Amino acid sequence: MAKHQFQPTVLTAPKAHGAFLFVYFDEQSKRRTNEILRSCCSVSKLVTQTMKDIRCCQLEDVMGGESDLEVSIAFGIDFLCNYIIQQHRTDLISYPSDLIGEHGSMPKTNGDLFLHVKSEKVDACFDMCNSFVKFLRSRGLNFTCDHVSAFSYRKNLYRRNNFARDFSNFEDGTANPNGEELKINVLSSNTKPAGSCFALTQKWIHRRLPWFEAQTLEDQEQVIGRSKIESKEFEIKSPNSHLARVTITSQTDPEEELNVVRQSQSFGDVNEHGLLFIAFSSDLERIDRMLYRMVGKDKINGKDAHYTDHIMKFSDCVTGQYWYVPSTAELESGKILDNYMKSKL
Ligand code: HEM
Repeated sequence: MAKHQFQPTVLTAPKAHGAFLFVYFDEQSKRRTNEILRSCCSVSKLVTQTMKDIRCCQLEDVMGGESDLEVSIAFGIDFLCNYIIQQHRTDLISYPSDLIGEHGSMPKTNGDLFLHVKSEKVDACFDMCNSFVKFLRSRGLNFTCDHVSAFSYRKNLYRRNNFARDFSNFEDGTANPNGEELKINVLSSNTKPAGSCFALTQKWIHRRLPWFEAQTLEDQEQVIGRSKIESKEFEIKSPNSHLARVTITSQTDPEEELNVVRQSQSFGDVNEHGLLFIAFSSDLERIDRMLYRMVGKDKINGKDAHYTDHIMKFSDCVTGQYWYVPSTAELESGKILDNYMKSKL
């Protein structure tokens, strides 16, 4: 499979800074699907223009090279089914509305478009989001948006690898598929266009982090299922640990672990901070299964049903949405999920 068919942020590691822009169109604008698609097709041109604008005001080397900005665009599953392709497929699962467990819930907050931005520079991330918002407005589209500015926290401080840490100070990304080939394997399936994938985004606010930090090191490690500094997986884990809840296997082959590609980043200030969780996946079903297991509603393995993820004892999930991330070929042609829109563009 050609690597270049995945959008720019899908296979790469998080950079120092990230921006997560969620767009919510009003009802009238949602129906202007051709205008929205045309705007999405223009994103790569907008990236080039934004880079040019930045370079006009700066010495070129301040930006650390020309190709620093990476941007992908995704469609909310409900918006995609109801407006863009106007059909419902069994693989296009809506974000569940019953993710409620003993330690909290994972609410569905919709969202029509999602812009995922990475750069070594925080101002480049801002410029890109701002250019996109201005561009949509210039096309007469009406919307509100949420803009989360995020960053890699304590990257490489403890260990010589490419991973950052969550504010809990546990390494995030240890078990991620490593390298492009492995990631492509995890994200590919023969039921959707090559280079496309799905994504989950959730905003988690670590409201009870002081409580977590007051626990013994052993208790903290049991919440995650890994050691804190070295991020070594424990052979014996609490069934309420994060790893025990999100580790799932294929229904046809119990030996095959189902993975996703996570690229979460930290966000916030001293008053309110947490993790902007993002995972790319070949299908939404495995993500669905992980989320249900976290809130103690395992639909497949009934005997596990009552265990909840103790991450929820220190963090509240406040937003959630599933996304379709088209391949670059789909975006360029306007042909999203085999629905050929080009004639209408
Ligand atoms: C507050 C939110 C979350 C925090 C702080 C968090 C943190 C972590 C940490 C520290 C690890 C262990 C190191 C690693 O392999 O990366 C991990 C692993 C993992 N997390 Fe999360 N996570 C959160 C939410 C989620 C959610 C919502 C999902 C599910 C969709 C998820 C899926 C996974 C998976 C699949 C692994 C790898 C498990 C393995 O095979 O070892 N996480 N997470």
